[in-house]
Amino acid sequence: MGGSRDSLYSPRPEPGTGACPRPPHLPRLGRRAVLTGALALSACGSKDAQSQPAPADLPPLKSVTPFRIGACVQALHLEEPALAALLAREVSQLTPEWEMKMEYIVKADGSFRFDAPDRIAAFARAHGMGLLGHTLIWYAQAPEAFERLDESRIGFADAYRNYIHAVAGRYRGRVTGWDVVNEAVAEDGDGWRDSLWSRRLGAFEHIALAYRTAREADPQAALLLNDYNLEYLPRKRATFLKLAERLLASGAPLTGLGTQMHVAADIAPGKIGEMIRDLASLGLPVHVSELDVSLTRSDNKLLSRSELQRRQAAVYGETAEAFMTLPERQRFAFTLWGLRDKDSWLKKENAGDAPAPFDDAGRPKAGAAALVAAFGR
Ligand code: G3I
Repeated sequence: MGGSRDSLYSPRPEPGTGACPRPPHLPRLGRRAVLTGALALSACGSKDAQSQPAPADLPPLKSVTPFRIGACVQALHLEEPALAALLAREVSQLTPEWEMKMEYIVKADGSFRFDAPDRIAAFARAHGMGLLGHTLIWYAQAPEAFERLDESRIGFADAYRNYIHAVAGRYRGRVTGWDVVNEAVAEDGDGWRDSLWSRRLGAFEHIALAYRTAREADPQAALLLNDYNLEYLPRKRATFLKLAERLLASGAPLTGLGTQMHVAADIAPGKIGEMIRDLASLGLPVHVSELDVSLTRSDNKLLSRSELQRRQAAVYGETAEAFMTLPERQRFAFTLWGLRDKDSWLKKENAGDAPAPFDDAGRPKAGAAALVAAFGR
């Protein structure tokens, strides 16, 4: 199809022509109910659930959140009826955990594959959910096809723009927003990360170009800057905010800030609220984009598992309460990086971790009850 984008080398229509192939056709509680639910305790199956009783009749998360409440997901996992049902009950937005990234889409020869992200997009559409595109440009992923681009066929900048047009254009009108650039800031806060993108297109320019190109491809989507450890590392947070300010000053269409929030159960009280207040200072919508609360990543090794579980629930509640201090116009979305413990990426790091608000069987833990109670206030 003329102008179709199926590889890095595909012809790139002029900006604004929007000639992108679309996938073949790919949807609120009373306070009393919430508090009753949150206080009514019933032990359930797994040891984690038993040691963290939560109400069996907890209202769905999305019933107490007028903003998007999301979860990450993998296409294959949607084939599991229990997870599909839990997602449909609890959340109003999905973030592809990895299948909308270059590592999945860009094949070795530079051609693209979209079967898995299309599947997730179709599920979201069928259930009236939003879709958060994650992520277009990430320092951590520079596929071989870019590393070894045949620049006699296309320039690097055009291939970069072609990729963004191909992906953001394909889901135009289907996503609520994009993590256009992920994790651009150095961990120590001393500048921005080095990457293939920064080396080939410029430290700042590759970032600004990504936002301009994403806006050409999708005139409506929120365009977010996403990063992690912003609650733990004030210096990194300051550099993140300076980058956002510089993008805004350059006229780049940045329209939201994402804070991943992969935190540990023993995070000091107050750090989360401080981070949220700092991010809110730019006046942009804020996305809690990848929240999980690890038990095993906690620094304090003297805490018992039951104390860690108690603190985990408190951290879920504290995060929700901090998010609720934002003006409504700045509450972009609140996304959990795995609804059930078994779905979490952290299980690969430590099988003993149980970072999610729901247990392996999809039963609500105290963390889910704390979210509902905080959102429902
Ligand atoms: O499912 C395939 C399997 O079929 C294949 O055999 C195997 C070997 O290639 O890969 C499997 O896919 C893996 C996928 O996770 C599902 O487990 C990918 O290789 C692996 O790269 C992917 O890791 C993801 C990672 O980002 C990199 O994309 C994690 O699931 C995901 O949780 C993690 O998420 C990141 C955010 O994007 C950014 N913030 C940090 C967060 C945690 O690292």
